[in-house]
Amino acid sequence: MKIAMLTSECNPLYKVGGLADVVYSLSKKLIELGDNVVIVVPYYKNGSTHFDYEPKKICEYNIFMSWRKQYVGLYEYKTNGVTFYLIDNEFYFKRDTYYGWGDDAERYAFFSMAAVEALMAVKFRPDVLHIHDWQVGMVPCYIKERIDSRTDFYHKTKTVLTIHNPAFKGMMDKYCLNNYYGLNDRLFDNGIVRFDGQVSTLKSAIAYSNIITTVSPTYRDELLNYSTSQGFKYCLELRKDDFYGIVNGLDIEEFDPKTDPFIHRQFNPRSYILGKKQCKADVLASLGLSPKEKDKNNPLVSMVTRLYEQKGMDLVVQIIPELVQRNCFIAILGSGDPYIQQRLEKLRDKYPNNIALYLGFNNQLAHKLYAGSDLFLMPSLFEPCGIGQMIAQRYGTLPIVRETGGLKDTVVGYNPISNNVKKANGFSFIDYDLNGLRYACNVALDTYFNNVEAFRTIIHNAINLDRGWENSAKKYQEIYRKALLK
Ligand code: GLC
Repeated sequence: MKIAMLTSECNPLYKVGGLADVVYSLSKKLIELGDNVVIVVPYYKNGSTHFDYEPKKICEYNIFMSWRKQYVGLYEYKTNGVTFYLIDNEFYFKRDTYYGWGDDAERYAFFSMAAVEALMAVKFRPDVLHIHDWQVGMVPCYIKERIDSRTDFYHKTKTVLTIHNPAFKGMMDKYCLNNYYGLNDRLFDNGIVRFDGQVSTLKSAIAYSNIITTVSPTYRDELLNYSTSQGFKYCLELRKDDFYGIVNGLDIEEFDPKTDPFIHRQFNPRSYILGKKQCKADVLASLGLSPKEKDKNNPLVSMVTRLYEQKGMDLVVQIIPELVQRNCFIAILGSGDPYIQQRLEKLRDKYPNNIALYLGFNNQLAHKLYAGSDLFLMPSLFEPCGIGQMIAQRYGTLPIVRETGGLKDTVVGYNPISNNVKKANGFSFIDYDLNGLRYACNVALDTYFNNVEAFRTIIHNAINLDRGWENSAKKYQEIYRKALLK
């Protein structure tokens, strides 16, 4: 099958969050399974790209955003069997950061329209156009309402939307419909793309795509539930029969403790005890935490995350003093909300012997933390899938999660009362409050300190999980086949 992925970020070129990992690793697996996949991304020029060679220019053309004629340079780049098409326009994409600009709605309108033309320019007529999140949300509507009357290029193409993070809705004023996409105001007036008095590109994608997916079965259910739906309950309800939840896989080559070049000592599911011990000593040293001999076995609790409310950071700052009291080392790697950063810095200054912070992103340190920690904290308020908890498990680091979205689907919390130690592969709690998190941390630490055997069994269960893309990629193939019947 011929599949074109449209996304605002993608490994190994540009990464902000899990979206980049997922599009890339899913595409690689689909190619391995015999599909023909191309990925279209913006050609960002912000100094942090990872090209092995200069992308090759294929052609240039103009698109019209209403009356404005805009240049598009189309480039091709191939790596690991994956073909990327890059959309160049320095006015839109030569900036210090990927997102967060006042004209993001316009930047991604440009990208969406240019990407639709790009596939025509390279004559890649996809069976399925797989779009990801709000940035490219207008594409199915734009093709149906504007392109289909001009050319038959996309007449047989079906569209699949994957919702990775619906907290970002792609809100824009109604005048943008015409001013960017040349679309008629009628689409706003009749309600199809209207959301909260504005246009939401994500809502438009929900209305116009042949099939909709999100990144775990539980998160699908949460999106159909009023209080956790981010406002999309009613429009998703109308599409319920075409709406699926598929849990993300992991790039198991990138995250493999047997071969990981970033970690101090590689290990496998049998040699993890010694391996993790050495990795822990190494990562504590690189964080500037130098425990006294008697403290060396104290647990290292880590987080690798974006520092936002979504990730449960308000609970984390409250639980930290209690973790310190129980002799934990705490390491947090991430960046985001300046207010949360400040609160973490204050805690670090108060407990400098226990807490290490790295504000920013550092891939090598992330790998070291996954390998060298004992526990991995992820008490998210909501989590469509989550990747950190799965990586942690693969490195024998037990996640402490809230039972929400994909976290619920990927972690079985240890319950000492029902004694599910044979199945458990982490720790979990339900209610989003300090007591909930405190409960899960206490179970984890009690097990760590007082029940080594159970703790090791849980590590054994986690480290042996099969997290590859095989199953989920096959589910996507099924979805694509269903889309073709639409
Ligand atoms: C978003 C979600 C996260 C998910 C990722 C990839 O970042 O917040 O839960 O794992 O997308 O699908």
